[in-house]
Amino acid sequence: MAVKVIGTGSALPEKIVTNDDLAMIMDTSDEWIKERTGISKRRLSTGETVADLATAACERALEKAGKTAEEVELLIVATCTPEQLLPCVACQIQDRIAAKNAVAFDLNAACGGFLFALNTAYAYMSAGFYKTAVVVGAEVLSKIMDWEDRSTCVLFGDGAGAVVLEKREGIDGILGFVQQSDGAKGHVLSCGSRAVNNPYCKQEPLYPYVIMDGREVFQFAVRQVPACINQVLENLDMTIEDVDLFLLHQANARIIETIARRYKLPIDKFPMNISEYGNMSSACIPVLMDQLNREGELKEGMKLVLSGFGAGLTFGACTMIW
Ligand code: UT7
Repeated sequence: MAVKVIGTGSALPEKIVTNDDLAMIMDTSDEWIKERTGISKRRLSTGETVADLATAACERALEKAGKTAEEVELLIVATCTPEQLLPCVACQIQDRIAAKNAVAFDLNAACGGFLFALNTAYAYMSAGFYKTAVVVGAEVLSKIMDWEDRSTCVLFGDGAGAVVLEKREGIDGILGFVQQSDGAKGHVLSCGSRAVNNPYCKQEPLYPYVIMDGREVFQFAVRQVPACINQVLENLDMTIEDVDLFLLHQANARIIETIARRYKLPIDKFPMNISEYGNMSSACIPVLMDQLNREGELKEGMKLVLSGFGAGLTFGACTMIW
């Protein structure tokens, strides 16, 4: 009995914003952004909401999996940028696609969110609660960027990706997970929401945009991502050479290149789409997975490692047989 990804889908805003477009509205350049991050362009919302993108990604994944919305028993959305605090994005999707038999809820583990949501669904399914699930990573990060802060706003993009999971006899699928959190380092990547404001207390408003110590996050990523990957492989008596493809969180091409170099592996084992889409937080891994799936790059039996990291700090890795 295994839990397997049987369908993928993604949705992106229509508006493409190049580095040159950004250089027209702030003190930056195509050269700086490309050299430091590998990003050439990104998609930015011109009105598409997290729920819009997440719903479209979900519908495409279900279509690809050959499943109906009614068959979905569990629907988890990883997001840190919902437009509405209530109801959660997963319940909005449930309503829009009429997934009336699903238990639906959101989970926020920032850029680590998709992996954490995938693991949550996997745990529920392995424990026997559900047989069919959808896991979505969806963000409209552009609304929590300070567009006066060139050191953060050029890095991020908006988008959504989804996978359909099925638990079935006689298939290969997810093999294992490693998940970790380090709340003591939370300050290196943060974003405020609402301060306490009631008849008995009025706190100062919180800063509602992303603040990031880029160098700290970079160092953390190149240390922790390989540590998680090593751990998840060791738990399964696998080696790095057993892995066909590494689908890593697309935060910076230099982070991914550093990790590939450390493993002395060719960079083409680390597919990237950061050049096109920038960092879409929880949407990065499922959008990349959908792209590779639709391009026929994921062949049955391939061994994949997924690894993500982000605010929290949260980090983890997963191995699966495609
Ligand atoms: O999903 C997880 C979230 N985040 C990450 O994974 C981010 C990880 N960190 C990074 O990717 C890199 O640290 C950054 C891309 C954010 C920054 O690269 P860096 O090589 O660490 O640059 P820096 O922050 O040290 O800045 C170098 C210089 C500074 O100028 P001075 O002080 O040296 O004169 C910045 O003011 O680059 C300047 N700078 C820019 N220049 C042009 C910062 N942002 C820009 C910009 N355009 N957009």
